[in-house]
This record gives sequence, C-alpha cells and structure tokens, in this order.
Amino acid sequence: MQVLVTGGAGYIGSHMALVLRRAGHGVIVVDDLSTGHRDAVPAGTPLVEASVADPARMADVLRTHRVDAILHFAGRIQVGESVREPRLYYEGNVAAAIALLGSALDAGVGCFVLSSTAAVYGDPLRVPIDEAHPTSPINPYGVTKLAIERMLEDYGHAYGLRWAALRYFNAAGADVDAGLDERHEPETHLVPLVLDAALGRRESVTLFGDDYDTPDGTCIRDYVHVLDLCDAHLAALERLVSGGQVGALNLGTGTGHSVMQVIDTVQRVSGREVRVVRGPRRPGDPPRLVASPDAAARVLGWRATRRSLEEIVRDAFLVRSATHR
Ligand code: UFG
Repeated sequence: MQVLVTGGAGYIGSHMALVLRRAGHGVIVVDDLSTGHRDAVPAGTPLVEASVADPARMADVLRTHRVDAILHFAGRIQVGESVREPRLYYEGNVAAAIALLGSALDAGVGCFVLSSTAAVYGDPLRVPIDEAHPTSPINPYGVTKLAIERMLEDYGHAYGLRWAALRYFNAAGADVDAGLDERHEPETHLVPLVLDAALGRRESVTLFGDDYDTPDGTCIRDYVHVLDLCDAHLAALERLVSGGQVGALNLGTGTGHSVMQVIDTVQRVSGREVRVVRGPRRPGDPPRLVASPDAAARVLGWRATRRSLEEIVRDAFLVRSATHR
C-alpha cells in the first residue's frame, strides 16, 4: 500500500514512516520542516517539503504516488503555546486539515488516520478514560484536534471517508535500532527533559507541582511507547483499507505513572542522579490522565506490548545518550 505520512520528519511521524517501511509499505513523507528534521526521515523515503495546506502540491503528491491512505501527524502540539497563540493552532491544525481533507477527497483517497490527543477530554471526570467519556477540551490545542475529529465524522457520513482518530496519551520512547530520537525545540515533554538532566545537558528538572491529590503528590500520566503507537496506526490502517471502520480510539497502556516515578526510573536506568527543583503547578495540568485501552483492543486487536516504564525510558535513554548535542 502507498501511504502518505504528513509530519513524517517529526517525532512520531518519523517512527511511523520507519514502521511502515519495515512492514513493506510504500511511504511518502510531506513535511514543511517547520519543526521536523530532514535527517529523521528514513533513508530512501521521498520527502516532499511542502505544507499540507497547499492544494496544488498535495494534488500532485497524491496523484503521482497513487496514495491509498493518509496518516496525518503534521500539526502544532504545545498546550501552552496554543493558549498564547491560538491562531497558530486554528490555522496550523484546523485550516490545514480542511485543506488536506479536501485534497484527499478530490484525489479519491478514501482512508485517513488523524493524530489526536487525550487533550480532547480536558480535565477528566474519571480515570481510566474510555471513549464514552465526554469530550471537553480546556485549551485551543485540544479544541482544534476535536474540531478535526468532528470533520472526519461528518466527511465519513457524507462522503464515505473511512477514518480513525487516535487519541494519544503520553508518547515516549524511541527506536533504538534506527537511533531515532525525540527532538522538539523547545523541548517541553517530561521524559526527554529528565533524560537531559541525567545526561548533564540541563542543570535540573522542575517538578510542576507536588501537592496534587495523588499518592506522591505529583501528576500521573499514561506513558506509551512510540513504537506501540505506530503498531496501533498500522492496525487502524489495515482495517480501514480493507473496508472497516475505526472512529476515535484512545491509545495508552492503561497504567499511570507519576512524575516522581519517571524521575526515579530515569535515575535507575541511567545510573545518574537528577537534580529536581520543586516548582508551582503548570496551569491546565489535570492530576491524572490514564487511558482505558479496551476499545483499541476490541476494534484493532491492539494492546501496547512495551508496557513497562522501565522499557520506555531505557529505549529513550539509549538513543538520547548516543546523540551528541
Ligand atoms: N512536567 C514536569 N516538569 C517538566 C515537564 C513536565 O513536572 O519540566 C510534568 C507535567 O506537569 C505533567 C507531566 O510531567 O504532569 C507530563 O508532562 P508532559 O508535558 O510531558 O506531557 P502532558 O501530560 O502535559 O501532555 C500530554 C500530551 C498532550 C496532551 C496533554 C493533555 O502529550 O498531547 O497531555 O493535558 F495535550
């Protein structure tokens, strides 16, 4: 199958391109390289340096490469930035998806998988979070991802588009064989920040609040290995291409770990000490975000296989410690 991966020079998209290639599929990456890295695209994979919102370029790509399905990773991902600069999110996420979906329909591409997020649930009423939990995002990032999900639902009904919206919890880890890493600038995610503190590339890591109503007072998240996320996309893609439906699904392990547990795990795995500075809570952080993985298991036959925090952190550490910055 010929698969277009948008954002294929980014963290999750580049891992996806790799996993698709390993599974024997044809891959074309479209990335404007605004945040992605050219060298993250697997060798031998065509990279089209373009915006997904450029209909002429996309029409050309979709027809030239006879694309069967689109995996849409490109987009803005920072909660804090989305509050300060919502325009970037409405334009970069919603308007871009409107344009991309239009190009897909015009070119007759019938399958579409969206990178969505746990942020669509906002401050959850209960955990683990299943897909019946109300969606009520509390920042423009979550709002824009939910808007795209709604569009997919409407396009599915009206135009027969087959789609999946995969709501990631906390993606972490890396592909050790390929040496692929997480490289956000600036980095805001916990695991790479703590690893950098362990590797002496940052002085310390700041704990955003230690007075939450959780066993050790720090926030709990569901960390899921990036390669498990990719496996779920592959399963969704195969289902859609064979005529099935998927819809919106949570992707997580079903187990939560606190910020302190992440820091402890990094110290254990790396054998180095991390200097921790206690800071105030970060606005908009829910105390607990843990997925119910049951619907993904039912619909896709997928469950995370790299389930221990140890394994996720170890893979991230192996790649990060081998790269020089
Ligand atoms: N944290 C710190 N210090 C840091 C960075 C993070 O204590 O320097 C804490 C955060 O407060 C949070 C946890 O570590 O409790 C994880 O934070 P991340 O920034 O790594 O990830 P988030 O949980 O904020 O992000 C996830 C998803 C987003 C989604 C968001 C919804 O990655 O896609 O949950 O709240 F939008």
